[in-house]
Amino acid sequence: MANRLPYTIRPAPGGAELRRAVGGLVTAVEPVLLAEGGVWIGWGGRTAAPGELPVNLAVPREAPRYRIHEVLLTAAEYRGYYHGFANSCLWPLSHLFVGRAVVRAEHWEAYRAVNRRFARAALENAAPGRLVWVHDYHLTLVPAFVREARPDVPIAFFWHIPFPPPEAFLVLPWARDILAGLLGSDAIGFHTADYARNFLRTVRALPGAEVDEEQGAVLYQGRVIRVQVLPIGVDWDAFDGTARRPAVRRRAEAIRAALGTPHILLGVDRLDYTKGIPERLAAFGAFLDAHPEYRGKVTFIQVGVPSRSEVPEYQEVRRRVEEAVGRLNGLHGDGWQVPVRYVVRPFSREELVAHYLAADAALVTPLRDGLNLVAKEYVASRVDGAGVLVLSPFAGAAAQLPEAVLANPYEVNDLAAGIFRALAMDPAEKGRRMEALRRRVREHDLRWWWDQVRSLLRVGEPGTATLHAA
Ligand code: ADP
Ligand code: F6P
Repeated sequence: MANRLPYTIRPAPGGAELRRAVGGLVTAVEPVLLAEGGVWIGWGGRTAAPGELPVNLAVPREAPRYRIHEVLLTAAEYRGYYHGFANSCLWPLSHLFVGRAVVRAEHWEAYRAVNRRFARAALENAAPGRLVWVHDYHLTLVPAFVREARPDVPIAFFWHIPFPPPEAFLVLPWARDILAGLLGSDAIGFHTADYARNFLRTVRALPGAEVDEEQGAVLYQGRVIRVQVLPIGVDWDAFDGTARRPAVRRRAEAIRAALGTPHILLGVDRLDYTKGIPERLAAFGAFLDAHPEYRGKVTFIQVGVPSRSEVPEYQEVRRRVEEAVGRLNGLHGDGWQVPVRYVVRPFSREELVAHYLAADAALVTPLRDGLNLVAKEYVASRVDGAGVLVLSPFAGAAAQLPEAVLANPYEVNDLAAGIFRALAMDPAEKGRRMEALRRRVREHDLRWWWDQVRSLLRVGEPGTATLHAA
């Protein structure tokens, strides 16, 4: 169960129209459901009038592997729960933008009510011994709600974003309710050791909870809850395999030829202020100022997908990106050739991988990010062993990828220097770094992640839980 279904649902004559949703959670979790089956409970990206029926069907429609069970939200719930509490309060707090957090009791009330609704949907679908697997910060209260009604059901929770230090989390007046909600689970996973440690330190503030930091465990209400570091991986075969297809290689060549510059840089992000896109564009400008010899020789492609566009900060970041693109192209373009290409649309897997293959360097430079799958997808796609990953130390993926070129997005010249280093690096060093990165990303791919989750919960063994991603 996750806030978002892997599809956006639109009513259409003769049945619902389904479109792929974009985001790290969907990319990572859907292959598990495709392999194992189950039910994905979530929201289909639409608000519904009272009386409207939710969609409940088997997907993919052409070759069904699992079911989707839609949870409908009213317009008021969507504002209070999703835009309000989840995205204007928990999201900025968790990403350490404490000053941006909007803390409002009515948003919290909506969040609680919607969490109740998701828990009811989980209970409708949960069979004895079947795992309820809850994902992300939208649904923190669900584990305790489900446990209250069905203590026999195994529950796992995965937190996909950063978990902040207690000083930030405890700003929330309802922090203890959230901790107690999460501790309804049997196991809780995080991407990095820092997030798990922050969580355990924060749990110390919950009356009645005993924390064993060394063992990664919490004793609460007579149960032991295991806290694990399990960074999500990419579906290696899907990216590596796509990158080996001749048509995709040809498309990458065509992209290079069409742009006509010897060098290409690439950014791929949801249009979110945590991704540091305006900061990246400023650094690209600083790089061109510091290295005029690269003018006319490098194109930066920024691919963006609109996200949470009713939250003012998201409207603002989009405006800042568009202004920066215009400014850079005005200042550094020559009328025919422009240094920045900005594309706002979802790409197919093939098109995405072709762009990864075409780019000399990927700029993955968030101000703060739970993990960042784009970093791993870029590496998995570089079957040619070329390409440089420029990575922010504030992405969770940095803990696993030390061979990337690390650059601080808060300091424009540091990031500009990272871009220069990537482009000027000699091919042998590029090859060595990429080979090491590919080994790491392959070893800790999505299959590894799911095996870890499975063994943590002993899912599939006789008498224990079986997967049911309710
Ligand atoms: P987040 O979960 O915050 O969005 P991640 O980097 O972890 O960030 O995951 C983003 C996912 O969305 C990746 O799998 C990436 O390939 C995908 N994605 C981002 N932009 C696009 C796009 N324009 N078209 C298709 N997929 C995209
Ligand atoms: O990875 C963090 C996350 O919030 C996921 O939970 C979500 O699927 C993705 O980013 C995209 O966000 P949204 O569902 O709000 O469009």
